[in-house]
Amino acid sequence: MIDLIHDLEGYQAEYQRSVEDPEGFWAGVATGFHWQKPWDRVLNWNFEEPSVRWFEGGLTNLCYNAVDRHALRDGDRVALIWEPNSPNDAPRQWTYRELQEAVARTAGMLQAMGVQAGDRVCLYMPMIPELLWSVLACARLGAVHSVVFGGFSARSLADRVADAGAAVVVCSEKIRRGPRDLPCRAVVEEALDLLEAEQDHPVRKVLVQGSLDPSKPLRSFSNIQSWDWDRLWDQTTARPQPRWMDAEDPLFILYTSGSTGKPKGVLHSTGGYMVYTAYSFAQVFRTAPGDVFWCTADIGWITGHSYLAYGPLLQGATVVMFEGIPTYPDPSRFWKICERHRVSHFYTAPTAIRALMVHGDAPVQSADLSSLRVLGSVGEPINEEAWQWYHRVVGGERCPVTDTWWQTETGGILIGALAGVSPLKPTYAGRPLPGVQPVLLDPQGRELEPTDPPSEQEGLLAMRFPWPSILRSTWGDHERCRTTYFSPFPGYYFTGDGARRDADGMFRIIGRVDDVINVSGHRLGTAEIENALNRHPRVVESAVVGYDHPIKGQGIYAYVILRSGLQDLDADSENQLIHELSETVVREIGAIARPDRIQLVEGLPKTRSGKIMRRFLRKIASGDTSQMGDTTTLLDPSILDAIWAGRKG
Ligand code: WTA
Repeated sequence: MIDLIHDLEGYQAEYQRSVEDPEGFWAGVATGFHWQKPWDRVLNWNFEEPSVRWFEGGLTNLCYNAVDRHALRDGDRVALIWEPNSPNDAPRQWTYRELQEAVARTAGMLQAMGVQAGDRVCLYMPMIPELLWSVLACARLGAVHSVVFGGFSARSLADRVADAGAAVVVCSEKIRRGPRDLPCRAVVEEALDLLEAEQDHPVRKVLVQGSLDPSKPLRSFSNIQSWDWDRLWDQTTARPQPRWMDAEDPLFILYTSGSTGKPKGVLHSTGGYMVYTAYSFAQVFRTAPGDVFWCTADIGWITGHSYLAYGPLLQGATVVMFEGIPTYPDPSRFWKICERHRVSHFYTAPTAIRALMVHGDAPVQSADLSSLRVLGSVGEPINEEAWQWYHRVVGGERCPVTDTWWQTETGGILIGALAGVSPLKPTYAGRPLPGVQPVLLDPQGRELEPTDPPSEQEGLLAMRFPWPSILRSTWGDHERCRTTYFSPFPGYYFTGDGARRDADGMFRIIGRVDDVINVSGHRLGTAEIENALNRHPRVVESAVVGYDHPIKGQGIYAYVILRSGLQDLDADSENQLIHELSETVVREIGAIARPDRIQLVEGLPKTRSGKIMRRFLRKIASGDTSQMGDTTTLLDPSILDAIWAGRKG
């Protein structure tokens, strides 16, 4: 088990030790887990290739450590509490022993379908226990899971399945979210249509949970077998034992957006991810047996992977998993769930806080939140107003709010307060966790040395030393991993974020410095949205930027040039076209990428060499009326006036 840091001096001492002797430090943490065979070497790394290997030669299994280990020792402890979408349906719960049985049985099902270690399995499912079991079952078998968030479109799903080379897809009949059911199996069928039409694709087997027709869970496709979850469940007698995997064997792929091109499959490996998610969970949230931890993120995102599925279970915590949305049936739902399950630790995104804040204090006060002790925030910068409301109204001024900064690529929280130990400063994520060595760089890649006396500094956030759960590669394209994260500033992992460090060494994350936007805590590449818009037959070119949005953090603003120009376009056909464009993006990517504003324009501000100057577009999108600054580099500066005149907002 992990020794918790007790106070600030303890943090400083542990941090010091982690920097002076990283190998000794992490070896010490790693001994708290079960290893079937100890590692030969703690760390072997270079950031040039990059190649990072932690606990090489060690054999372990993440599912064993997260589930079996607790089932054997303390099997009656509650592992999972599941709250269904409808408040009228009864919640369900599983002890660690019951979870072990469910996960082993799911592993037996996957095995019966032919899944073996190293195979990629795509999970496209709602927030139901079967999703968590499937994740853990893959880990048990040594198969590599690739969870695709249920809100992604058939196109996005098809691209991810093809890129990962997943032979098996697990899905559900439908997704219950709020008042409506969304299709799930039908989206998989649509994705298979797309795959069949285009290329020779990897999918051979599809497992459908909750099918309406168990004898034929999926429409028929050549070369694809379909299976019904319930039938297979009933037939499965095998309970495969955890397969011992090398620490550096891949654990999962999770697709995330970057500034260019298609999403990349961030690859995490077994041992380092296990050690770091458990360590960071323990130190930041500090749960004790009997506590109830609720992370509201969907398992389709990294937060759900690391702090719903793996981190808390590795620590033997009791986790809540919620199928629905915060505002259904009304905006008190989150708080009612906290009351019902006596949630002690609550972890959510600023966008949810802001969306609920709009409904005032009454919905919060309608619930008994006396069980809450620690609040967490993740995914995007938290503004002061949201922080204060969260602290005062939700936390009754007695719960520390830990603002945790990290990324899909980092696997776990790198910067954040240790709840109740670290000082809190609203809008500041705070100090790095032990083992994490952040630096601020100038645009030339020189480290900003702390000044004497210390002062506030701002720069590009990078890491100069690996932590155990750093990404190992981008699936199928290692070069892309290198050029995206390691070659911009040789010798460093570059985060893509800008940050400020105050005189006390606390970090405040400012936001992305690349063309990635953060919409309701979801990461989207502006290039991806542009590509989607450009698929519409009437579009010649488009440019997408983010702008400040009071609830979503950032909204999506799209400028679109039509083939036919803007003449002869009356208001009705303009509205119709804007609607079609919006639907095109939803169809190509998913509803999370639906533009908030679409403006049809005659031209875009470009330099003589044809580069779009997004800086100007951002200014217009945000309604910033101050001077545009230097427009002399533009081929046609007058275009800005025309765009400004037709601005949406
Ligand atoms: C942003 C989510 C400010 C940041 C875990 C990062 C944050 C991107 C915070 C990663 C935070 C995440 N404060 N910004 N506490 N947490 N971000 O991969 O820009 O979905 O680079 O991982 O979200 O998003 P991702």
